[in-house]
Amino acid sequence: MDISIIGTGYVGLTTGACLAERGHRVLCVDADRAKVASLRKGRVPFYEPGLAELVAKNVRAKRLSFDGDNAKAVAHGKAIFISVPTPPRPDGTADLSAIEAVARDIARHIRDYRLIVEKSTVPVATGSRMKEVITKYRPANVDFDVASNPEFLREGCAIADSMSPDRIVIGVESTRAEMILREIYKPFKAPVLVTNIKSAELIKHASNAFLAMKISFANAVAAVCELAGANVIEVTRGVGMDKRIGPGFLNAGIGYGGSCFPKDVAAFEAISRELGYDFGLLREVQRVNEQTRDLFLKKVERELWIVKGKTIAAFGLSFKPNTDDIRESVAVKVVQSLAERGAHVRAYDPQAMERARASMNHVAYAKSPYEAAKDADAVLILTEWDEFRDLDFRKLKKVMAHPTIIDGRNLLDPERMREMGFTYRSVGRP
Ligand code: UGA
Repeated sequence: MDISIIGTGYVGLTTGACLAERGHRVLCVDADRAKVASLRKGRVPFYEPGLAELVAKNVRAKRLSFDGDNAKAVAHGKAIFISVPTPPRPDGTADLSAIEAVARDIARHIRDYRLIVEKSTVPVATGSRMKEVITKYRPANVDFDVASNPEFLREGCAIADSMSPDRIVIGVESTRAEMILREIYKPFKAPVLVTNIKSAELIKHASNAFLAMKISFANAVAAVCELAGANVIEVTRGVGMDKRIGPGFLNAGIGYGGSCFPKDVAAFEAISRELGYDFGLLREVQRVNEQTRDLFLKKVERELWIVKGKTIAAFGLSFKPNTDDIRESVAVKVVQSLAERGAHVRAYDPQAMERARASMNHVAYAKSPYEAAKDADAVLILTEWDEFRDLDFRKLKKVMAHPTIIDGRNLLDPERMREMGFTYRSVGRP
């Protein structure tokens, strides 16, 4: 099928590449001309394992192409997916101006039937708004449908998630729209759930909010474990073995970050409030998340007493492993607070240093973990990259001023670290 995608961020570009890989002819459109030019040369503007190869392969096969013009997107695709950003406003509500602008643009160029699909995460009832806008600005009598098809991929494993998702959610108002989306997803082996548009929009917000809630819950349990002398790894393993709860997203750490959870929990709370429901549980999820970061910073202070003037090595800056994304990264926030308190922070991350350098210049960047740890009073593990699991710890210990590791991700084995002579602290473990 001829498909257009407007917006080539993580979601848009991955969706485009995966749909092309499954045999569709996909045109990806982005307003950023420089980005389009580099995508045409096969250059992906962010790090996502396997994506550059998949893009290049499908460009070569002429199933995937790029353009800067929304008019082309409307002409090309029978279905047009919108995956432009919906960033948070200061009050937590989602800024939908990019969605609205694209909807108007589509309406201006539409000449015959098109299915317009929301792929971006949007608050419930955005689909109805889009329908109103397109109806208002389209030429008279041109038929169209709006649908919601939320994306559940995670950065770092975006292709695998997109190729074989747990479910494909299709929110539609007509059989025609349902048939088109079913046809698009036929080559994907995943259960399809068909709902109305509002339910599909809510499934996305409710899913992300629930996952964030699981993480905050695990972090709260970790705090209690620490006070009581229990081990959060054992506790969450035991809890997660209950099929009704499930083992995923119960890893305690320094709190959740990234471009989705913080934004979506806030937006879901805000839209619920606008509709007349006080979703206080979601405010608590956010509060626990901030408290988790503060508790970690307190732990650093407990070890170092005075942070000012100390050399601290930060291992990891990206909001999670296998990405160079530092948006809303808790690792970055921890580094910033320590630098503000007068610590000399030397950071190392396998992928995210270039991005971090552009926004944080009061921090030194090292070429290797050992260089970061040279003469350091403590090493903080802030992102659970595999590289940090497999370090030469003897070498690490030798280069440090004092062998202290504060592991915010429970990446290392406490017993092994202590046997090797490290002062080792982690989250919710004795
Ligand atoms: C999240 C969801 O997992 C995806 O399903 C969704 O499609 C995506 O948001 C989105 O809305 O676009 P993502 O933000 O890429 O995906 O990354 P996650 O793997 O969910 O991690 C989010 C944050 O939670 C990270 O900071 C991670 O370190 C933290 N986390 C995750 C924990 O602290 N503990 C856990 O057990 C799991």
